[in-house]
Amino acid sequence: MEPPALRRSDHLTFKGNLRETRHGWLRLTPAYSVHLVGELLAEASRESQVLDPFCGTGTTALVCAERGIRAETTDINPFLLWLCEAKGRSYRETELTALRSTARTVVSAIRDRSATAAWTPPIHRIERWWDDATLAALGRGLATIRALSAAAEPIEGGRAVPDLLLVAFCRTLIERAQVSFGHQSMSFARGRGAAPVVEPVAAAEAVAVAWDGAVESVARSASTPISTPPQAVLCDARNLREQLPADRYDVVITSPPYPNRMSYIRELRPYMYWLGYLCDGRSAGELDWQAIGGTWGCATSNVGKWSPEGSGAIPHAGFDELVARIAERSPLLSRYVHKYFHDMVRHVASLRAVLKPGGVAHYIVGNSKFYDVLVPVERVFASLFEAEGLEHVEVRAIRKRTSKRELYEYVVSARKPF
Ligand SMILES: C[S@@+](CC[C@H](N)C(=O)[O-])C[C@H]1O[C@@H](n2cnc3c(N)ncnc32)[C@H](O)[C@@H]1O
Repeated sequence: MEPPALRRSDHLTFKGNLRETRHGWLRLTPAYSVHLVGELLAEASRESQVLDPFCGTGTTALVCAERGIRAETTDINPFLLWLCEAKGRSYRETELTALRSTARTVVSAIRDRSATAAWTPPIHRIERWWDDATLAALGRGLATIRALSAAAEPIEGGRAVPDLLLVAFCRTLIERAQVSFGHQSMSFARGRGAAPVVEPVAAAEAVAVAWDGAVESVARSASTPISTPPQAVLCDARNLREQLPADRYDVVITSPPYPNRMSYIRELRPYMYWLGYLCDGRSAGELDWQAIGGTWGCATSNVGKWSPEGSGAIPHAGFDELVARIAERSPLLSRYVHKYFHDMVRHVASLRAVLKPGGVAHYIVGNSKFYDVLVPVERVFASLFEAEGLEHVEVRAIRKRTSKRELYEYVVSARKPF
């Protein structure tokens, strides 16, 4: 059934978060909106224990932290867990003063072109991201952050100041990169493929200005109160019981990856390489292979060789016909869709185990289209919830996703029986 005509509602996407405090620290297009999480939290109380098994940039965890609600969140990407921890921490005034004064040392290093060449990350074709002079200025900035963080005399506040410096560094590196955010994922700005030759003094100055702006914005937003910092745990959502206790969570609010071939590792690679979470293409592909729906590097060739454990049956009427129709055009994409839901079957079973009896789960998902085959992701999720014995399964369309007809976002909700 066609969902009701919904306008593209930017306040229900990441764009709505940009104006918000800490939520706008780093951009990830698939991040969902603070407003939507707030709405879904309506039935939670201060006693509730919330879980987001697909942390991403930590939107659910941070909204809870700001409202004094206990939240735990998991992801397989350690960089995102680090970011979530930094976003959800309570910062004292003395730490923010230390941040501003330490940042002045960093900006001097960014401007100081006499310094010896600093380390820059092994990103493939890095010249497409930054010209040489900008790269050198960023390298000097990061080397100084690292040296200050490792100094014998610890910076006020333990991890607090180093983490905020790194968040400001991430904002600076992306602001000075030649990438465009006009699309669903990052892309190189049209017509600016190769790096223009930039005058070194001007390039360093541009990085210094971006740095000062980022530090001030991060310092201001970090001053907002946090009453209950979230717990961020490295865990594969297909096996939540490895890290989380059974029957614990009253409310789950999450957006899992969609089966749309988007790679979070690819999107996040500039930050992850600079901060040392990735060191080469192989490690990037391997991490994306752990991600549900990952397709980057070796993840795609692995999907090509994948076959399901056991029968591989997905408990949704018509699923086999759906993947057979996609297979007529592309056996690889058909396998991709099959594997995505095969992983989600495992996830939903482990979700059920950690939900408290009577606990509710809200999943924000988008449907997908492969050639002319529409994959009703929301209805397959509803079937997976029902197959796991969850009740009151409901699907609600919340917004139109792109200018492409038929692509919508939905909230799929369900309750674990008492
Ligand atoms: C759509 S994003 C979540 C966005 C988030 N709601 C936000 O506001 O930023 C999905 C997340 O699921 C994570 N993920 C993918 N596969 C996973 C797995 N097997 N276990 C845990 N997390 C996984 C990805 O790393 C990504 O951060």
